[in-house]
Amino acid sequence: MKTKITELFGIQHPIIQGGMHFVGMAELAAAVSNAGGLGLITGLTQRTPELLANEIRRCREMTDKPFGVNLTFLPTVSSPDYPGYIRAIIDGGVKAVETAGNNPQKWMPMLHEAGIKVIHKCTSVRHALKAEAIGCDAVSVDGFECGGHPGEDDVPNFILLPRAAESLKIPFVASGGMADGRSLVAALALGAEGMNMGTRFIATKEAPVHDNVKQAIVAASELDTRLVMRPLRNTERVLRNAATDRLLAKEAALGASLKFDDIMEEVAGVYPRIMQQGDMEAGVWSCGMVAGLIHDVPTVKDLIDRIMLEAKGIIRQRLRGMLDA
Ligand SMILES: Cc1cc2nc3c(=O)[nH]c(=O)nc-3n(C[C@H](O)[C@H](O)[C@H](O)COP(=O)(O)O)c2cc1C
Repeated sequence: MKTKITELFGIQHPIIQGGMHFVGMAELAAAVSNAGGLGLITGLTQRTPELLANEIRRCREMTDKPFGVNLTFLPTVSSPDYPGYIRAIIDGGVKAVETAGNNPQKWMPMLHEAGIKVIHKCTSVRHALKAEAIGCDAVSVDGFECGGHPGEDDVPNFILLPRAAESLKIPFVASGGMADGRSLVAALALGAEGMNMGTRFIATKEAPVHDNVKQAIVAASELDTRLVMRPLRNTERVLRNAATDRLLAKEAALGASLKFDDIMEEVAGVYPRIMQQGDMEAGVWSCGMVAGLIHDVPTVKDLIDRIMLEAKGIIRQRLRGMLDA
């Protein structure tokens, strides 16, 4: 399938694997790229720029296809060494970067001079327009359904994507709630040039996370996520567990006086314990409503092949059949 996104990144299928903390390691990124999509290493999961440089090297050993790096600009007081991470990306010869969190304006000249294509992930049309204005090559439009940080506007993709299509000149992919061939065809119909998936890629054989995480996603329904940290304007969609319930009880009890310090136990440094050790009650972790559409743990290649086959089948048979009738 050829779209503006496959052309931009030099990939076979218009499918991107979004950055995911403690999931987006070289193994997953390489598997997605080898299957014809765009795999992304999650930059900040690597504690230092040197470790990121090493992860990029490892990924290159596993694939000769294009892959990228996610750089998330966090609202933290002590900023990670972003110049160092960008140097590792440039020196590693990576040609695609997904930015997220804050606007990447400050880093655009460095990235573009190195011939890197930038896709900025955002949750509103106004942020997408800002990304376009500062020279981003594409955007990933993350609807309210998404796992992780859906922003504070709560606009689902059925509205957000056509609004993006009305407003943007640069190409965009649909993100949030995407799982299969139906998602891809719907995304294309709403004006996107492809799709970005997070949660779906965790439940794959190659995702380097504990099997408990994959099984939790398969077992979950679309009713099992919750929004946490709304009072801090740092809303995150997570899978419901004991830590989620505890955190929500603190939010209810403390109201507007809630501080980040009050919820440290549920959120700080919990990802390694969940993703690597499989301790599913260790804290809150991002998961999309799309869990309700995830029923198996295939290889990445089987997943992507299945998506493309289903998407082509829907276009060629189901939709075309309706026209011919
Ligand atoms: C476990 C997990 C961790 C994530 N970590 C990040 C991250 O570090 N940076 C980022 O930009 N997005 C992160 N995301 C968001 C994904 O890249 C993607 O935008 C989102 O999962 C799309 O929604 P979906 O889960 O419905 O497919 C994360 C998502 C999940 C599920």
